[in-house]
Amino acid sequence: MPSSVIVGAQWGDEGKGKVIDIFAAKADYIVRYQGGNNAGHTVVIGDDSFILHLIPSGILHKKKICVIGNGVVIDPRALLEEIEMLKGRGIKVDGRLFISEEAHVILPYHKLLDELKEQKKKKIGTTKKGIGPCYADKVARSGIRIIDLLEEDTLRDKLRANLEEKNSVLAKTYGADGFEFISVYNEYLDYGRKIKKYICNTKRLLNDAIDAKKRVLFEGAQGTLLDVDYGTYPFVTSSNSSAGGASTGTGVGPNKIDKVIGVVKAYTTRVGEGPFPTEFDDLLMDKIRQKGKEFGATTGRPRRCGWFDSVVVRHSVMVNGLDELVVTKLDVLDELDTIKICTGYRFGDKVYDDFPSSIKVLTGCRPVYEELPGWLKDTSGITDYSRLPVNAKKYLKRMQYLLNTKIVLISVGSKRSQTFSKGV
Ligand code: IMP
Repeated sequence: MPSSVIVGAQWGDEGKGKVIDIFAAKADYIVRYQGGNNAGHTVVIGDDSFILHLIPSGILHKKKICVIGNGVVIDPRALLEEIEMLKGRGIKVDGRLFISEEAHVILPYHKLLDELKEQKKKKIGTTKKGIGPCYADKVARSGIRIIDLLEEDTLRDKLRANLEEKNSVLAKTYGADGFEFISVYNEYLDYGRKIKKYICNTKRLLNDAIDAKKRVLFEGAQGTLLDVDYGTYPFVTSSNSSAGGASTGTGVGPNKIDKVIGVVKAYTTRVGEGPFPTEFDDLLMDKIRQKGKEFGATTGRPRRCGWFDSVVVRHSVMVNGLDELVVTKLDVLDELDTIKICTGYRFGDKVYDDFPSSIKVLTGCRPVYEELPGWLKDTSGITDYSRLPVNAKKYLKRMQYLLNTKIVLISVGSKRSQTFSKGV
């Protein structure tokens, strides 16, 4: 493995937390490279369940080094809460967590603007964690970076200038109260003092680690179809959640990344607004949502559910350069008589088998389906590929054929033990 990236190949929530936890056992460093606490990675260890939003899931493995790269946006309050939660549950964090000096900081006005924008304009259905407004400031070159929290004068000057602008927007566009400089300044200086021990030059740390032949695992958050470039724009998050982000979000050159692994659910889900061609009707939606416990780990929102869409995942295979696939939640389909796989979209007299860029096409198209017989057997106790029902194997083989990518790992439940690694 020397260095691998794990990415979600659909709209997020593919079960990356569990998969990363499994691969983390063989890694030395586990690195987040984009997004922020909009992510929710669930890891079940024995009877314990952890939901991590910002800190890489590798923290749950003793002695692993965890890095939050420059491409991540950090809400210091959420970070400190997560650190405290982990410490409270007996996990050692100090000396194992490193945060990039260059990561951008989420401020209170980012969160408020995210919320107000969602109320006023056409909704994206964001997590309201301030992710989009923070990345907007980064690109506009007015963002506040983690290193700034350690320099009183830099923070003062940047925060003053930002508050002047943000308070004016809040008042004029939204009729909302702004923020007082001194309280935000003191609050964020205090965060700086508290997280100082974790802050370092993570580019140097990671490149040195790779030179020393350490194994580095890059942990993608969200999913490829939420990527700001390759997703269903504008119904996306504001970062590059696809594999390319691992390089820009950490300062590790692309030639130092050896493998890209995609995680797919055996069906499809998405949270928030935006086109979803294979979305179920209400009856099936409810059945799969309950069986798959499809409720957001960050916001608790019910997830929208639909059939497996090979057009979506083929797109992911291409833009991420996926070498291998992990299929999760196969057991959720156990009780279905018939299972559909989408192989193309029909719009007007055209059939698309490449993922269309047009939201109009994606919203108006009709999916082209293949139907396969279900297996009607409980697979959640299976720990060996050879014991899977024949129809479950046929389903996986068909998926693999349509995606032209090898399936290397299959998951049939939330526990570490409910995973087997037979090639299909
Ligand atoms: P934001 O990232 O909060 O700006 O939200 C933008 C879109 O990405 C919304 O549709 C969210 O529901 C979605 N989103 C953000 N993070 C996640 C995630 O971790 N899983 C699934 N969807 C997400």
